[in-house]
Amino acid sequence: MLKSDEFRERDAKCIVRAWASEAEPTVVARAKGAVVWDPDGREYIDCSSGLFAVNVGHCHPEVITAVKEQVEKVMQVSILQTTEPLISLAEKLVEITPPNLTKCYFTNGGSESIDTAVKLVRQYTGKYEIIVLKNAFHGLTGWALAATGATSYKRGFGPLLAGFLRAPHAYCYRCPFNLSYPACDLRCAQEIENIILDQAISTVSEGAIGAVLVEPVQGRGGIIPPDDWLPRVREICTKHGLLLMLDEIQTAFGRTGKLFAFQHRNVIPDVLVLSKNVGGGIPSGVVMMSDEMAKKFFTGTTPTHSGNALAAAAGLAALRVLLREKLWENAAAMGQRFREGFLNMRMAKYVGEARFKGLMGGVELVLDQKTKQPVPKADINRIKWALWKRGVIISASGPLGNVFRVQPPLVITAEQVDRVVAVFDESLAEVLP
Ligand SMILES: Cc1ncc(COP(=O)(O)O)c(C=O)c1O
Repeated sequence: MLKSDEFRERDAKCIVRAWASEAEPTVVARAKGAVVWDPDGREYIDCSSGLFAVNVGHCHPEVITAVKEQVEKVMQVSILQTTEPLISLAEKLVEITPPNLTKCYFTNGGSESIDTAVKLVRQYTGKYEIIVLKNAFHGLTGWALAATGATSYKRGFGPLLAGFLRAPHAYCYRCPFNLSYPACDLRCAQEIENIILDQAISTVSEGAIGAVLVEPVQGRGGIIPPDDWLPRVREICTKHGLLLMLDEIQTAFGRTGKLFAFQHRNVIPDVLVLSKNVGGGIPSGVVMMSDEMAKKFFTGTTPTHSGNALAAAAGLAALRVLLREKLWENAAAMGQRFREGFLNMRMAKYVGEARFKGLMGGVELVLDQKTKQPVPKADINRIKWALWKRGVIISASGPLGNVFRVQPPLVITAEQVDRVVAVFDESLAEVLP
């Protein structure tokens, strides 16, 4: 029996996970850069980057050194005290973000950061409704889940927390208004304003909307809005005195080809929510805000592990590598290479759209280019399995479940990109007619 099979058997007996395809879970014994190995020595190119939390690559030597050194000094002190790596990380985050974002509130992860951002906005504005988008993913805890758009994450959990109004997302490939860009004049963004203006939609009363919460690129399906969408959303927020909350949990730290996704068009958020790479692979999250907001934010108490020294040391080391090596430039170049590869492979007829903003990639598979009929879920799972057998890990998601999320560590090489495309091509040929 392979060691991997033995581990999988033991895992299945005692570990609860949300879903499983035949290929999961991959047992990972070792990882380096964009590659992971199982205990039997099989090698996989990891296009999921530890769920997008290791942008500088698995086990980067500088992150390892920082963690080893920090372990010898102090690991956990809680935010009631402070540590040098935590202060240095916060200073660095303040330095690399817009001047209005002067303060950091640390958490343990993404969902908790979204919950915290909701609390912040409600306290600061005195208003409790927030406009969120269709298909959004903001996490699985209380407010984060209520803000999340996909019903599959909510089934059986109702009633969810109140206070969220939902607007359409900028999904141009399947436009909710059946319009095409740019003739549509961003009708989806306009709907955000319509919600603000149509007070009858409000669940409470006039003027109860305090903010708009969006992802610059929706992680669930890699849905990339047109370039002027985010500036338009910013404009609407400013016009109506609403705060713009950006969930850059997945898009930040070089992923989209810029250090932050809001930099593509210099949009300034009022609240910036980060996680994943903040801890360099160790759980951590942060909500960034202005001095004025921080003054009005009364958090009650503090989460036990927030600001953990080990996570801060790892996060700081990862951030230094990212900044020094300008890894967003490789992300932009490799994203482009992926896109061209998927559009030109033998089985390209099944690629409805290959969306890449840097290495935030979504390959949407359809059976027919004209009707855009999605490749069925069962076949998507078979393709995942075929990829895995050939040594490539890619997860699938999206509103219809037919989008492969191609999001490897930003250090992926051209050779590895070409290998992934070739394997994708072979896997499609194995499963689809
Ligand atoms: C955009 C976005 N927001 C929030 C979350 C939730 O983060 P976490 O899984 O750390 O709770 C995620 C996680 O994938 C995410 O991609």
